[in-house]
Amino acid sequence: MIYLNGEFMPLVDAKVPVMDRGFLFGDGVYEVIPVYARRPFRLAEHLQRLERSLNGIRLANPHSVAEWTTLIGKIIDVAAGEDQQVYLQITRGSDSKRNHAFPKVIAPTVFVMSEVLVTPPADQSELGISAVSSVDNRWLRCDLKSTSLLANCLLRQLAVEAGCAETVLFRDGFLTEGSASNIFVVKNNVLLAPQKNHLMLPGVTYDVVLELAAAHGLRYQVRDVLEAEVRLADELWMTSSTKEVLPIVNLDGRPVGSGKPGPLFADMFGWYQEFKRAVMRPGAGSLGGQGG
Ligand code: PDD
Repeated sequence: MIYLNGEFMPLVDAKVPVMDRGFLFGDGVYEVIPVYARRPFRLAEHLQRLERSLNGIRLANPHSVAEWTTLIGKIIDVAAGEDQQVYLQITRGSDSKRNHAFPKVIAPTVFVMSEVLVTPPADQSELGISAVSSVDNRWLRCDLKSTSLLANCLLRQLAVEAGCAETVLFRDGFLTEGSASNIFVVKNNVLLAPQKNHLMLPGVTYDVVLELAAAHGLRYQVRDVLEAEVRLADELWMTSSTKEVLPIVNLDGRPVGSGKPGPLFADMFGWYQEFKRAVMRPGAGSLGGQGG
């Protein structure tokens, strides 16, 4: 069952008009929320980012936090599987004519579904993944989680065609992020994270990784990261809600550091799994929020 504009229905029955601005213009925003043991992970943070994305595209939030929480809870209840990924999307709705400017009366399209969460197979965290790099040719509001993902799709396809898992993006000589992930560098036992700005998505997993680094005394710096620092990294990690934390061991056909997942990755991977288990524990209470 999925949710579309106030109704629950089977996915095959869910239909959106062709005049929907999500279809015509990619005029919408979305979120992907991981669910462990039927508990949404960091729900408050995802809903905050949703609010921020909606404000960024000047679309009123159709629901309060309480309404979203109830709605997402219902979708999780009726979906199969203990671990899920909730996808939600809001577009500016449809108009009678195709017109770039906003419709006068806005009835947003609200869509929520849940799929089984497929976290990366163990060999990806044990052996690492390969990536390619590309110039980041996206627009200048990459901080908004917009459904206009054409550039991201084209960039990810470069990785797929090279037999790789992700495309690492550089803009003007600096690391921004991946086509669908945030990227971290390890150099001389210090974790480097690009600072959040309009050129990257403020990842929820990114925040968790930095919190775990702080909690475990791993030294880290949040600052601009040069492309050269990525090329000379001891370790390279990618993070996202569905991939969690993965080590990139090869970039553009060259080994990253030793060419194997590094020791700091092993630490972070362990902390992340431990944190998840703590959040999932019945009675943990905070929906994966601060401190789990
Ligand atoms: N993508 N950067 C980009 C461009 C992303 O698309 C994503 C996530 C991230 C990581 O954000 P988070 O840790 O909050 O998932 C960074 C989701 C998973 C997607 O589009 O499917």
